Amino acid sequence: MPPPSVLFVCLGNICRSPLAEAALRAAAKRAGAGLLIDSAGTGDWHLGHAPDRRAQAVAARAGIDISALRARQVAAEDFRRFDHIVAMDRQNLADLRRIAPPDGRARLSLLLDHVPGRAGQSVADPYFGEAAGFEATWRDVTAGTQALLRLLLGPD
Ligand code: 4NP
Repeated sequence: MPPPSVLFVCLGNICRSPLAEAALRAAAKRAGAGLLIDSAGTGDWHLGHAPDRRAQAVAARAGIDISALRARQVAAEDFRRFDHIVAMDRQNLADLRRIAPPDGRARLSLLLDHVPGRAGQSVADPYFGEAAGFEATWRDVTAGTQALLRLLLGPD
């Protein structure tokens, strides 16, 4: 059986989805779970760029180096390759639904759908805000990915 696979998607793939990728990778490692994890953006402005410095800083404070990640754009093939495509906000989710190919098999959700009491909520876009916004992003992606990991691993 191939490991469960998850693609996180935001707008630029330089702030929220790289942090979700890092948070799930760290949680899966702690749990000893093998998962295939990646992230991408719906937009193409930052292709090939490293994560935003403020995202790198908040991850570094959690002991995680995300400096080697590079932004890419979500592609039709992703809908066939991944079990789950997890959007950061409602606009990302709407964009994913619009571009999903007819033979896509990935299950689409919002990250915070997986957190009890937060279904339908977006992870706010921190790009144009203050540095503190990235702390809120980290809290949201930590809560979301922990809940997602429980879902992927199933009841024990
Ligand atoms: P992200 O944040 O979607 O969390 O990576 C953004 C990054 C860049 C832009 C917007 C949001 N931008 O407009 O360039």
